[in-house]
Amino acid sequence: MIRKFKNLRVALFFFLGYCISNGAMASDQPDSVYLFAYGTNGLRFAWSQDKQNWTSIGNGHPYVKSDYGAWGSEKRMYTPYLIEGKDGRWQAVWGLNDRTLQFAHAGSNDLISWGPQSYPYLEKGKNVLKPVISYDKISQTYRITYTDSQSKYFQTTTQDFKKYSSAEEVPPAQYKNQSTTISLGGEKVEGQVHRVSWILVDGLLKSYQLTQYNAALNAETTSQDAQRFAGLKTVDAKIVLQPQASKPISDMLMGVFFEDINYAADGGLYAELIQNRGFEYHPADKKYNDKAWTSTHAWSVRGEGASLQVDSVQPLHGNNPRYAMFTTESSRAALINTGFDGIVVKKGEAYNFSMFSRQIAKAGGKLEVRLVSEKQGLLAKATIALPSSEWRSLKTTLTASADASDVRLELQPLQAGSYGFDMVSLFPQKTFKGRKNGLRPDLAKTIADLHPRFIRFPGGCVAHGDGIDNIYKWKNTIGPLETRVPDRNLWNYHQSMGLGYFEYFQFCEDVGAEPVPVLAAGVPCQNSSHGGGGQQGGIPMSEMGKYVQDILDLVEYANGGVNTTWGKKRAEAGHPKPFNLKYIGIGNEDLITEVFRERFEMIYHALRKAHPEITIIGTAGPFFEGTDYVEGWKIASELDIPVIDEHYYQSPGWFINNQNFYDKYDRSKSKVYLGEYAASLPGKVRTNLETALAEAAYLTSLERNGDIVHMTSYAPLLAKEGHTQWNPDLVYFTNTEIKPTVGYYVQQLYGQHAGDRYIPATITLSEQAENIRKRIAYSAVRDSKSNDLIIKMVNILPVSVNAELDLAGLKLGKKISRTVLSGDPAGTTAKPQTIDDVILEKNTLELQPYSLTVLRFSNK
Ligand code: AHR
Repeated sequence: MIRKFKNLRVALFFFLGYCISNGAMASDQPDSVYLFAYGTNGLRFAWSQDKQNWTSIGNGHPYVKSDYGAWGSEKRMYTPYLIEGKDGRWQAVWGLNDRTLQFAHAGSNDLISWGPQSYPYLEKGKNVLKPVISYDKISQTYRITYTDSQSKYFQTTTQDFKKYSSAEEVPPAQYKNQSTTISLGGEKVEGQVHRVSWILVDGLLKSYQLTQYNAALNAETTSQDAQRFAGLKTVDAKIVLQPQASKPISDMLMGVFFEDINYAADGGLYAELIQNRGFEYHPADKKYNDKAWTSTHAWSVRGEGASLQVDSVQPLHGNNPRYAMFTTESSRAALINTGFDGIVVKKGEAYNFSMFSRQIAKAGGKLEVRLVSEKQGLLAKATIALPSSEWRSLKTTLTASADASDVRLELQPLQAGSYGFDMVSLFPQKTFKGRKNGLRPDLAKTIADLHPRFIRFPGGCVAHGDGIDNIYKWKNTIGPLETRVPDRNLWNYHQSMGLGYFEYFQFCEDVGAEPVPVLAAGVPCQNSSHGGGGQQGGIPMSEMGKYVQDILDLVEYANGGVNTTWGKKRAEAGHPKPFNLKYIGIGNEDLITEVFRERFEMIYHALRKAHPEITIIGTAGPFFEGTDYVEGWKIASELDIPVIDEHYYQSPGWFINNQNFYDKYDRSKSKVYLGEYAASLPGKVRTNLETALAEAAYLTSLERNGDIVHMTSYAPLLAKEGHTQWNPDLVYFTNTEIKPTVGYYVQQLYGQHAGDRYIPATITLSEQAENIRKRIAYSAVRDSKSNDLIIKMVNILPVSVNAELDLAGLKLGKKISRTVLSGDPAGTTAKPQTIDDVILEKNTLELQPYSLTVLRFSNK
């Protein structure tokens, strides 16, 4: 409860205000009234004293919505049917669609907070239409009866909403639908009438009012500031640090989450320049099977009589079944790849070309490999000998004679013939830290500059996939590139797995970050569109043993000795030393159902038993409240999960108004990994200084709560312009440019100026209004390695704040640096400016309007 209504003071204040203005609690209220339950795409309510005149509760506000299936048109609720059960708990069932043999169920004690939804599969009927629920006192069972599109009637029973009897056909008379039609706001609506206590209705009304109140706070933006803060002058703030009350905080707070979304891997961080090098793109990579997305994507043919076909007879490797069969009748035709929107090369830099080839018709001959710029012509070429009928690896190096971003790769056999080509690769020799099969240096450096303490990978949704077949399988992503198993990326493209687990672990090591792999909890994404509605189709329990073993094997791959099966594979990849994996996340913002729980527990217990040294991270749904949040935390407490992953994407107003979110968290429970968060603007457009400052203010609260908040990572991290499925992102990029957002600099400042001891402070302001207080945030930390003191101050007001710091009792370094990020809140170009060797007159400083200031008292 405390977690749900964190801002108790606000809630109480608000309730009181509401009661006074509305008279809802006045003594003339009836003891009981009629409640009408109805709705399409959400369970809604109305109330009445006489069953004639109905008043909508919360203007038709939906108190529970269906979470079944893929986002969009699948999340439907038809003909909800509500009863009060034997124990006073409300039970609702509803129809989902006219295709699936499933209905939905959820239960609630107060009609406000709802338990997990379930979507039982039935065996009888064409579909499940208009399910109704009743309670049979004699057999002490709930009976769900439904009809189908062939006007037949069926029934299933349950005692616990977990196990259901086999559905059986019943006579029509047994289908007792008590729904009735009322007139509500001039419209006829169908639903069920219940006699209930006024307290229940009052609770619904108040909950709606609280929702509205919070929505208004969350919608606050700086565009209203001229009005909101009209006449406001400079605010004075006296900040008194209290070193005697300092506490240790996590030294892992600032991390990053790398997910292959928005072309973040292929065409992004992964330095491969050839798109679709394995000819494995497939219409099924895309939702609804895009026929234009084929194995020849990004490839074309130049020259008369030349042709490209994709074949799979005698493939290079079974995991990479397709290859190009290029046939030419002349020595002038070429097979061309245009990379990811063109290939970028730099003058004087070397590029490793490699591919596998076999000749289909006759053996021998030569191949010219060229880099050709659209505007500048030929930039590099090399000639290599073609092999015989067997697959052979071919390699050469090309050095570019000019800078260009419009380059294509041409493969031109110098004689007629028919050739098999596969795994055609062009890799810059300059990768991040010079790694083989490595990363694009400028992007990798941009991530490294955040000074991340950990890197989460591979998801997000990429981890749990769109349907169980799409669950990310780490074993498919290691070993020689031609043996890796590419897959459909649920963000609607293709993932080559070139950037797999080895490259990930290597990157973590290269930037000094702990790896935090997040693996599916045996269930796919709750919004899956493949393999049945939603995640209720988890991995069959009969296959879970193998799945659990795969997870244990990942630990062996990362940490096992070179003589172990999987440790040996790591050594073969070039890293005999262990990667020292310490964390594993199980599950990603899943729908917390019985299906989830059964699988999660199996993995959790096995991993804990085999590897007590690994810190396991559980999951608490995609929001900061609601059923999955509550149920996820329940499991975390019951199983004593060390860390739990929370996610929330909210408005800047939410972040400003919820800086007390963790203040009241129970310190004896699991620690928190805020694994995905971002302040986003309406329309999910790119972010600006306003969102960045809202995050900066929130981050002061995360440092303050760094004893319980163990880790955080903004999401998503990368987005390639022109291939972005999700906004906002932290860093946008093209083939040639990196475009960090203002939010990036906030992450960077917190990453570069992190501490491991928090020093509380009291603050006294010359202005008392709450909306002013919430817009001045601060935190002080000490970094025990350098013994530096760091103070961060955020001012999200349109006026300056004169801050006076009382640093009595603190050991201070001799040098002070001051970094300020400020500007127009709607602006997108602000960058931090640092002044070294600052002198603080009387320990006072001006915090500019709309700014983040970082003061570092350094010992160097
Ligand atoms: O960060 C983008 C997506 O948001 C993640 O893949 C998913 O976990 C969340 O819904």
